[in-house]
Amino acid sequence: MRKPIIAGNWKMNNTAREAEALIAAVKPLVKQAKCDVVVCVPAIDIPAVKKAIRGSKIRLGAQNVHFAEKGAYTGEISAPMLKEYGVQYVIVGHSERRQYFGETDETVNKRTLAALNAGLIPIVCIGESLEERESGRTEEVLARQIEKDFVGIEDFSKIVVAYEPIWAIGTGKTATAAQANETIGFIRKKMKKIYAGKNVGRMRIQYGGSMNAKNAKELMAMPEIDGGLIGGASLKAPDFAAIVNFDQ
Ligand code: PGA
Repeated sequence: MRKPIIAGNWKMNNTAREAEALIAAVKPLVKQAKCDVVVCVPAIDIPAVKKAIRGSKIRLGAQNVHFAEKGAYTGEISAPMLKEYGVQYVIVGHSERRQYFGETDETVNKRTLAALNAGLIPIVCIGESLEERESGRTEEVLARQIEKDFVGIEDFSKIVVAYEPIWAIGTGKTATAAQANETIGFIRKKMKKIYAGKNVGRMRIQYGGSMNAKNAKELMAMPEIDGGLIGGASLKAPDFAAIVNFDQ
């Protein structure tokens, strides 16, 4: 059995003070959580959130990591830096990083391996654009990402994949539960084939893209969907908690 994992992706929202207030509001609401609960916060919020989540089920995540251990990479943060701070998860290859910051399948792969090397759990994002879906190329695009983004991983139980159709991110347009289930099923099948013998069956795959308090239950009821990566709705304590408590 794969344990469900609900992760908030705050993106570039919340100053450290705002982060403290949000965690204080979320904490009492997720006491009974049966799934893994993660908040992926802006790097500068990490110290404040680390303190704020003490004594709760919430785990700390970052939103990006550089692939080098150290060196001349102005503005970047390394996996050992995150690890030393108690960060356990890190989002890699979010579509916004691919779209606005020149992230490629190759750099996604390098960042994923760097995270694993440091003992972090990467949440690797893949997904197709609207144009790609409408032209019937969803599986082709996902197959390319699957082939390139995960090269060199030995144990897939140590990573999380987030399937995020780009057209559903921040748009209010969710993939239907059936669509998400079908596509995630495709991803798992394809990965089992390419990375046979590497524990793909134990790898959790989340859905992401306008997941909210209303649709979480239906999405999470799908057999292939092991969790959610939540943007907008993770910024409101009651909404995020309702998603975390999807099974209650
Ligand atoms: P959204 O974002 O929930 O606001 O659509 C999801 C994501 O980008 O991870």
